[in-house]
Amino acid sequence: MSVRYGIIGCGAIAQRRHMPEAAANPESTVAALADPVADRVKTLAQQYGAEAYTDYKKMLKQAQLDAVVVCGPNALHAQMSIDALKAGLHVLCEKPMATARQDARRMITAAKKANRHLMIGLNQRLMPPHVRAREILDSGRLGKVISFRTTFKHGGPDGWSVDGAKSWFFKKNAAFMGATGDLGVHKADLMRWLLNEEFVEVGGRITTLDKRDSRGKLIPLDDNAVLSLRTSGGILGSIEVSWTNYGGEENFTVVYCTGGVLSIGTDPTYGVIVDYANGERELHQVGEMASNVKQVASGVIDSFTESIRRKRKPAIDGAEGYRCLDVILTAMEAAAEGSVKKIRQPKL
Ligand SMILES: NC(=O)c1ccc[n+]([C@@H]2O[C@H](COP(=O)([O-])OP(=O)(O)OC[C@H]3O[C@@H](n4cnc5c(N)ncnc54)[C@H](O)[C@@H]3O)[C@@H](O)[C@H]2O)c1
Repeated sequence: MSVRYGIIGCGAIAQRRHMPEAAANPESTVAALADPVADRVKTLAQQYGAEAYTDYKKMLKQAQLDAVVVCGPNALHAQMSIDALKAGLHVLCEKPMATARQDARRMITAAKKANRHLMIGLNQRLMPPHVRAREILDSGRLGKVISFRTTFKHGGPDGWSVDGAKSWFFKKNAAFMGATGDLGVHKADLMRWLLNEEFVEVGGRITTLDKRDSRGKLIPLDDNAVLSLRTSGGILGSIEVSWTNYGGEENFTVVYCTGGVLSIGTDPTYGVIVDYANGERELHQVGEMASNVKQVASGVIDSFTESIRRKRKPAIDGAEGYRCLDVILTAMEAAAEGSVKKIRQPKL
């Protein structure tokens, strides 16, 4: 059985990742698209031989689908996902899964009730250098992790979104979070997964320094953040994110361990480098990391399609999405209060 996908929101991530990846997988098809921008959805539907809708609710009612990919603005993710789950469809929702904890919980409950899969598009952990890094940490040859620093910075979503500087990314009610939600949520997820521990404490500075909207006004969302975090096992680390790295993109992570240092994404040839405490060095040439200027296959659609076909739990489920969203929301609260806050680990 081929998985028939409907895609809600036909912007940059749908066009550059989900549509081509669903079309390329022999086990899936792009069956229907929904976006309020009529020309956009019509052109793309012709390209993929899919049905076009300007109202996603109509698509959920009329199109013959197995699953949807939710790629609209952040603040609409929860309702779009819940509507699709209630319609009996599996849902792959882009990150951040929601803009409030309660909404994320509602999504998880809706998936359970409907007995459908809910996966979140936190694709960093599927990237080959990150997969190799996790294997190295799991092997134990670097000993115990002491600390880490991880960075994700680029020039901002105005250089990425199909609507440029007029995009929803710069509107508070549609995005809710700026660079911290956009990039920090990726890193919160990646580090939880790499270290195999939950974050229990976070503090930080979250601020707007330079990014301007299409009218030249400073955006009403953060464009830079520096967070400090502590895991359940006592690992200390920092996450730095920015939308004002006008010189390109940085996506790297360094993990400091009792047996040496693990560097990911710091070298253009070797995606992973291990520098052992005894002076020995291991160089790993692994597949590339996707960046805004160069998308490489993310594996997200392939992984979700496989979980639907094999009736297996998705690789990154709603609970995983909740945990990293919680880190970011708690960081925002801590930054607003100028404090360090505990992150509770509710049962999900
Ligand atoms: N996983 C990743 O690496 C990654 C990368 C980029 C974006 N994203 C996420 O994907 C989502 C979309 O981002 P993007 O970069 O594609 O943005 P974009 O601005 O390029 O596109 C958003 C699209 O959503 C459409 N839209 C707006 N309201 C809608 C509605 N009610 N129904 C259907 N469509 C609607 C817009 O018309 C636009 O075509 C965001 O949540 C973003 O955080 C994830």
